[in-house]
Amino acid sequence: MTEGAETTRATRLAVVVSGRGSNLQAILDAVASGALRAEVCVVASNQPDAPALDRARRAGVPTVVVDHREVRPRAAFDAALADALEAHRPDYVVLAGFMRVLGAPFVERFAGRLVNIHPSLLPAFPGLDTHRRALEAGVAEHGATVHFVTAELDGGPSIARARVPVHPDDDPDRLAARVLAREHVLLPTVLAWLVAGKVRLEHGRVTVDSHPAPLDI
Ligand code: GAR
Repeated sequence: MTEGAETTRATRLAVVVSGRGSNLQAILDAVASGALRAEVCVVASNQPDAPALDRARRAGVPTVVVDHREVRPRAAFDAALADALEAHRPDYVVLAGFMRVLGAPFVERFAGRLVNIHPSLLPAFPGLDTHRRALEAGVAEHGATVHFVTAELDGGPSIARARVPVHPDDDPDRLAARVLAREHVLLPTVLAWLVAGKVRLEHGRVTVDSHPAPLDI
């Protein structure tokens, strides 16, 4: 490969999903529109029937399934998923609605190149069922966070957040829909920053264009 070809190679994103894939779709749309100068090199799922896989196929993106019910124990699943992703030479691995916890060896293999979108304003409400928990806690504001993944569940350094107000008549579904609409802006925005080299992770601290993270978008 010539030097020129090397410098113009598109940044390769591997996206890991478990279900619906609306965040994947937001990434694919941003790539198609040119807003995100990257290539989705593979979409991987632990669920063979995830609708997200159809979105990938429609976009002509290679798919791979590593079924967690078949590849056990967890360490073997993690290793098989990491190998499957690595085969597509990703620059970044994006967890976009991936509903499994990844162990330290996986996280270390992609350290600094592994990001997740989580449906809360971290560090509030790590884990599952975030919208119901936010309503039960009576918070005035909720949202979503994109963060680097570490071995601590939803505990890695945050890059950016999107905030939404909580309304008095919200139920978890209504609140989730309001957050999700913002996720679809947040995730492609952060990926565009990563691709443009604006995000630095040093000693567990993140900056974006020299501004301390997390940024609010
Ligand atoms: C999104 O809300 C995402 O933030 C959340 O799952 C949903 C996936 O929707 N992720 C997690 O809860 C990760 N623990 P999608 O499949 O339509 O993108």
